[in-house]
Amino acid sequence: MNEVQIIGTGSSVPDQIITNDHLSNIVDTSDEWISSRTGIKERRIVKGETTANLASSAAKRAIEDAGISPEDIDLIVVATMTPDYFMPSTACLVQKEIKAHNATCFDVSAACAGFIYALNIGFQFIRTGQSNTALIIGADVYSKILDWSDRSTCVLFGDGAGAAILQKSQNKGILSVYTGSDGRGDMLLTCPAVGNSNPFSSEVNLPKSVVSMNGKEVFRFATTIAPKCIEEALKHSSYTKDHIKYYVLHQANARMMEVISKKMNIDIEKFYKNIERYGNTCAGSVPLALDEMNQNGLLKKGDLLVLVGFGGGLTWGSALLQW
Ligand code: ACO
Repeated sequence: MNEVQIIGTGSSVPDQIITNDHLSNIVDTSDEWISSRTGIKERRIVKGETTANLASSAAKRAIEDAGISPEDIDLIVVATMTPDYFMPSTACLVQKEIKAHNATCFDVSAACAGFIYALNIGFQFIRTGQSNTALIIGADVYSKILDWSDRSTCVLFGDGAGAAILQKSQNKGILSVYTGSDGRGDMLLTCPAVGNSNPFSSEVNLPKSVVSMNGKEVFRFATTIAPKCIEEALKHSSYTKDHIKYYVLHQANARMMEVISKKMNIDIEKFYKNIERYGNTCAGSVPLALDEMNQNGLLKKGDLLVLVGFGGGLTWGSALLQW
């Protein structure tokens, strides 16, 4: 089996900043409520950019960071639940934009755990020799599927994308990846696709493609599954949680991170946090955080990191990385 390393990262968020005060002009909410319940102060919201736009610009930055040519990429996997089209896939749109004409391209749907799922696919493709260099992206424009009159959801999310280049290597990089799902929790977080209005259908109430969520149950799910994800990432390694320099969790809620750090007895300072600036960017959140850490020089060669994602489906996953 080949070893696999992350050799570059990139990210992209829209320029437009929407603060909690902006939202209090739209729905009955306040900066105090949002900040104290979630840790979010502001988020980025598109003014017209699409999921493929954000994904492509994150990809270009990752390619530059890795110092490779787009033609070197032989696999593009985009994790998204807000694609621009049912077809073509977002991955094909990215391929065209970045001119990575040698790649096989497809999307995966695993909500906020999507980047970990995509990372696992890239990891397995390279391990088994099917691919040499993979571009893995998490990208979501959640603002287009929010009900902007529902204060219990619209304040939580932002738009963004992050990308990583994986490559076959002599050295260990990705040490383990773990994923899981539980369809029994399907209705805790939903966003329907288009309804069927064909002339032979009896469907009358066509669903609207907006997010609905059972916040309390999702909170319970996340704070239960994240500790398991951390344990699973470490399970087959010789490392313990104390060896880990940073835990890069899906940025859903700062309070969730506090609960998880207490449950696991891990110093909260080890949990990287940028939710105050971006909100929950769904599949974009983990790679966006990872890229920020990389660009800010926080990651030194040999550092151990655990990535954790969890979201609708229900879906979850984690990865143990040696930088
Ligand atoms: N502003 C003001 N009041 C609000 C708002 C708002 N934006 N949203 C809800 N409220 C009200 C509710 O109506 C409720 O009022 P009531 O008591 O009069 O009925 C009150 O605030 C309390 O609501 P709770 O739901 O009890 O608040 P809670 O402390 O549970 O926090 C929250 C809500 C932040 C959504 C929390 O449940 C949570 O974070 N859940 C996880 C959801 C999540 O992270 N989802 C992300 C997507 S999934 C993922 O990424 C894994």
